[in-house]
Amino acid sequence: MEGAWFLALALLILLWWSRNLRARLKLPPGPFPWPIVGSLFIVKEPLPIFFAELGRKYGPVVYFKLGMVPTVAINSAAAAREVLKSRDLEFASRPDLGNLRQISFDYNDLGVAPYGETWKLMRRVSATHLFTPSKLNTTASVRHREVKAMIKNILDEGPEVVDLTAATNAAVVQGVVNLLVGTDDKSLGIDARSLNGIFEKAGEELLNVNLGDLFPFLRRLDVQGLERKFKYVVMPPIKSLMEKIIAHHKSSSREVEDFVDVLVNLNGEDALTHIQTIGLLSDFFIAGINTSQTSIDFTLAELVRHPAILSRAQKEIDQVVGSSRLVQESDLPSLPYLHAVIKESLRLHPPLPLLLPHHNPAASKIGEYDIPAKSTIFVNAWAIGRDPSTWDRPLEFVPERFLERDVKLTGDDFSLLPFGAGRRTCAGYLMAMRMLPLSVATVIQAFDLATLEGREVDMGESTGGATRRNKNLMVSATPRLAKELYA
Ligand code: HEM
Repeated sequence: MEGAWFLALALLILLWWSRNLRARLKLPPGPFPWPIVGSLFIVKEPLPIFFAELGRKYGPVVYFKLGMVPTVAINSAAAAREVLKSRDLEFASRPDLGNLRQISFDYNDLGVAPYGETWKLMRRVSATHLFTPSKLNTTASVRHREVKAMIKNILDEGPEVVDLTAATNAAVVQGVVNLLVGTDDKSLGIDARSLNGIFEKAGEELLNVNLGDLFPFLRRLDVQGLERKFKYVVMPPIKSLMEKIIAHHKSSSREVEDFVDVLVNLNGEDALTHIQTIGLLSDFFIAGINTSQTSIDFTLAELVRHPAILSRAQKEIDQVVGSSRLVQESDLPSLPYLHAVIKESLRLHPPLPLLLPHHNPAASKIGEYDIPAKSTIFVNAWAIGRDPSTWDRPLEFVPERFLERDVKLTGDDFSLLPFGAGRRTCAGYLMAMRMLPLSVATVIQAFDLATLEGREVDMGESTGGATRRNKNLMVSATPRLAKELYA
């Protein structure tokens, strides 16, 4: 009985304290934050849609508590500009979450490390040694080889019924793995599929909600055993594989330098520790493969659903490239309609609809509102890309809108944010924007794609932290070019 009284008293004090906090600070509007649990009971998956619903009810900046964690959902371009540009530095960190700490080798990485010296080093190394136009030019041959493998996969399966998702996914894995670690080198004894497999498993585990993240007083107990699982089951195979790859690169050389070659030869102030090299490489696998697969898959699905748009994109390629050779990366700047198609696909289907969570170590502001220190900020790129106040016919696939209105993907227009913006914008943007258009262009140059007799393309998707189409894209794929180009 005494215990019940004590609990009631504690709840009253918490209620009073949270109301008092609301009175002292001008917090953004949002659902009522119950003591301890916050608004957990009203949270619904998929989160981007739930946050957009909150936005319609409370406004573009919504404040609520996920368990005990102050959380802000950003649903408009203007508010996103504030977080990612005007106050970029204040919101450039990442929340400290148990699973993220494990997957990043204790924040020895780029994607989830807090804003600080390690992150700055990783970002500099990525920007000056890996994702530079000249480095990307020297690896173009690897990407061209992989898109050839992509159309070969499709040819071998077709023409009547082709699983386009499987064919393109497999080639993306091979391509990214070759660029990063060069598994073509047989003496390494690692194949792309098994390498990708261990990262896919880690990605699945990452999606589990860790109670210690919502209720920090549970953190040390690891009540669900998730952090132990990461530490003792998920991470050891990743670490030992990365170590094997690094050791192999230190003792051999390749014709085209891959990313590991670059990383192990860094020196001076850019040199990475052993664990930082592992952390950075793992990031590229986790951040690069799924996002690229998803964006290629959604773009091809939209094209198959819209034959007139597919035909216009094919015509553009035929005019610029002809039919005696395959499209090359150097052709891409001459294909504006293709770029409009890609932008439209990323507007409607950003592979990371909430970007990665941002975090402010110190108290800050968004517009007129106070944002308490240590809040988790979700920028809802999915909702911003469909905002009817910015986009005419927001739910329709209309690439032409980008021919009339020049919106860049690099985040200078905050109404289109598939790669985020500001300090934490996608580090692999330049590479992604070669792989994605090249893959889509090559597939549609090489094949006439159509839905299977009597079937519509199922655009059902599962969306949360990352988005995927639920069903593989099944099409007929009729070759358009001479046989020898597919070899
Ligand atoms: C179409 C493909 C891709 C999309 C849509 C995409 C999107 C994103 C987004 C939304 C973020 C988070 C931005 C933020 O939190 O504000 C991000 C971060 C990141 N991306 Fe990408 N990405 C893609 C491909 C790649 C590739 C190919 C790589 C590397 C191989 C890569 C590496 C990274 C890294 C390392 C980060 C973390 C950056 C940081 O926290 O400083 N991404 N990406």
